[in-house]
Amino acid sequence: MNTLGHKLRVTVFGQSHAKAIGCVVEGLPAGFRPDMDRVAAFMARRAPGRDPWSTKRKEADAPEILSGMVDGALCGAPLSAVIYNSDQHSKDYEGLRRTPRPSHADYTAWVKYGESYDIRGGGQFSGRLTAPLCFAGALALQLLEQRGITVAGHIAAIAGVEDEATDFARVERSALLALSEKPFPVFSDSAGEAMQQAVEAARWEADSVGGVIRCFALGFPAGIGEPMFDGVENRLAAALFGIPAVRGVSFGDGFAAAGMRGSQHNDPFVTDGKAVYTRTNHAGGVLGGITTGMPLVVNVAVKPTASIGREQDTVDLQEMVGTTLVVHGRHDPCIVPRALPVVEAVTALTLLDMLMEE
Ligand SMILES: Cc1cc2nc3c(=O)[nH]c(=O)nc-3n(C[C@H](O)[C@H](O)[C@H](O)COP(=O)(O)O)c2cc1C
Repeated sequence: MNTLGHKLRVTVFGQSHAKAIGCVVEGLPAGFRPDMDRVAAFMARRAPGRDPWSTKRKEADAPEILSGMVDGALCGAPLSAVIYNSDQHSKDYEGLRRTPRPSHADYTAWVKYGESYDIRGGGQFSGRLTAPLCFAGALALQLLEQRGITVAGHIAAIAGVEDEATDFARVERSALLALSEKPFPVFSDSAGEAMQQAVEAARWEADSVGGVIRCFALGFPAGIGEPMFDGVENRLAAALFGIPAVRGVSFGDGFAAAGMRGSQHNDPFVTDGKAVYTRTNHAGGVLGGITTGMPLVVNVAVKPTASIGREQDTVDLQEMVGTTLVVHGRHDPCIVPRALPVVEAVTALTLLDMLMEE
């Protein structure tokens, strides 16, 4: 339901326009002193209202820690944090209970929860619920870093405009770290410009665009993951599909592998006499659900934002007749840039959980 992980467990709670959202994190090591400035910097990458392509909703997204930390160090008790909601425009959402937005969760929430559902701001299905995930993920990223593991990603594509291709066998740690410093994390700034233009064009046309996020894990050891239903792919896919608007998860070459020959797709094994590597990394660092020790490469497809300012067909659920809808309120014309740190956070939480299980 709202809990992710086995040994490291994160439970997310709240609704977009409730008093607060938050999370409870269990399994973090006692004595760990998170760098809270870095936690804040990481969360700011997801926070709304900072970029032209982001919703105009302004939220500080500052977590208030309620328990689990004493004098800056974790004490072993569950860590709980809340983020207060302050900038709500609930009246923008009143009509949506009756006329659901195409492609949002309004309709399925009505089917499941009936009139009791809190529709304000998308309720529990809002992208806002990913802020607590970023808080927990920021801690996981720091703990992975202590073990020499870097998790970071880039915007691989928006509206069909692709970032520079990466050699999955030779991903530079310094290049990944530089990405997180960029306001628009792409390897090729000219591709990034073209992507931002596509987002801007969609915004002017009261429309939206989607894209692909690619996340890497470097330094993650070989041999992690269980076969069949508990492999690294299974666990990451289950977790990443928890992020609203995610439509696909693949590894390495992903769906493109289906069109390749074995001679193109196979990754030949090589050795330096001490360890085994692969010359290429089409597999994205995982074979049989178990990590190879090569860079882990996961691709996440994000759909175009459902809430667009154009007239669309929908149904009046009270009268059971067809009608039209123009969505009001403040919405990102492209979710991809704000979803990138969420993908990093969820990847880090899942990988740390799997390491703790070993
Ligand atoms: C960071 C983030 C921000 C989002 N912002 C919006 C938004 O402004 N408008 C919108 O319609 N959907 C937004 N979404 C996506 C919806 O929450 C999502 O499409 C909806 O809950 C339905 O779930 P599904 O797309 O996974 O089926 C956002 C998602 C994320 C991760």
